Amino acid sequence: MDKLRITGPCRLEGEIRAAGAKNAALPALAASLLTEKTIALSRVPEVQDLRTMRKLLEHLGVDSSGSDEVLELRHAVPSEYDDAPYELVKTMRASVLVLGPLVARLGHARVSLPGGCAIGSRPIDQHLAGLEALGAEITLDHGYVTARTRPDGSGSPGRLEGARFRFAAPTVGGTENLLMAATLAKGTTILENCAQEPEIRDLGNLLAKMGARISGAGEATIEIEGVESLAGASHTILADRIEAGTYLIGAAMTGGEVTVRDAVAADLAPLLELLAECGCDIETSDSSVTVARTSELRPRNVVTAPHPGFPTDLQAQYLTLMTQASGTSTICETIFESRFQHVPELRRMGADVEVHGNVARVNGPTRLTGARVMATDLRASACLVLAALAADGESVIERIYHLDRGYEAMELKLHVLGAGWRVERTSEDHR
Ligand code: UD1
Repeated sequence: MDKLRITGPCRLEGEIRAAGAKNAALPALAASLLTEKTIALSRVPEVQDLRTMRKLLEHLGVDSSGSDEVLELRHAVPSEYDDAPYELVKTMRASVLVLGPLVARLGHARVSLPGGCAIGSRPIDQHLAGLEALGAEITLDHGYVTARTRPDGSGSPGRLEGARFRFAAPTVGGTENLLMAATLAKGTTILENCAQEPEIRDLGNLLAKMGARISGAGEATIEIEGVESLAGASHTILADRIEAGTYLIGAAMTGGEVTVRDAVAADLAPLLELLAECGCDIETSDSSVTVARTSELRPRNVVTAPHPGFPTDLQAQYLTLMTQASGTSTICETIFESRFQHVPELRRMGADVEVHGNVARVNGPTRLTGARVMATDLRASACLVLAALAADGESVIERIYHLDRGYEAMELKLHVLGAGWRVERTSEDHR
């Protein structure tokens, strides 16, 4: 299994380009199930989760071919399979995003209940309640969800039917699944209490290019007027705000200066406002965001929340930054249970952090020292990289397959930012 060996301390300085957002690309790929025409996507990040989604779509009959620049997907002839098997779904929760499009286009789908990051139980009850509201019949058996539309007059599977549905709480994947499903439903659907993450706006833009009639994607209420069929489209995936945020926190963490080109400042606002309060210098333009740290870091508390609140996917990285701030800060995680698994690993590097329930209390500043640590989930892996860059001496981060799920070419980008030989991937057993 690959590991990352990092020799710190290292100051990050320079300019990189944001990758396409993993969390926008995943539903965009799934949207190819909604049409028999070609969907051409640019800036699809080269990360493991996207490879898993391509594999899943191929199993479902989607032809995909790609150059470095554009990935083309075509679901001309659905395969004999309408199922997302456990072997694929267990590695990535976002596989459940095929459920809505499949049942909308074919009238039936069978998807294994999802696995994914080990950050708490993550039910899909809202996805299912929403599909039921659109007229699907849902059954659960042997770890699989089956969704079917009611038969039409001739006995073939009928279409979903537009309805009003209110999410019990905002869910990103649930909103995306329902949004895609409703595009092909008969009549109008109104989704209320939707998640408002920028990736949903991006999916709405792609679906609109395919001919869907949508208003409000990325807002709390979305209205969709169903159409009989959708066309092909070309689309460039939104820049990854979580990846960009990770490197910008890296600049603050290492007393450096990092510019991320193509990053969308508005989508990063919750992080940038906080970094400014901590004493970082922030510069934004239409096409880039720069963060620099020239002075002492001030501690600032944070509570994760659905967008436009502070993203849970940057919590681990921000908590790590606070180990370098002069004073005490609290980090409250409200989205996922068990999302402090990085804390024991950071403690091994010298961090002074206590966790009580869903609140972590970080006492800084601490001088971190290199250690052998283990990545436990995607964003926890990223925070260990940041900690290792700031720490004195050598760290070895194990199980970085978690990192590879969501960060494109991380070693290369760190190299560009001046880390050079200090970051090395190795598969040898380092004892
Ligand atoms: C997406 C992101 C993930 C991010 C998360 C929250 C993708 C591929 N992943 O995950 O990186 O951390 O949003 O911003 O976009 N919930 C229910 N019932 C449901 C659905 C969700 O109770 O039917 C709960 C979850 O357990 C969780 C919360 O709602 O506590 C938010 O989950 P959700 O927004 O659905 O996250 P994902 O779409 O899985």
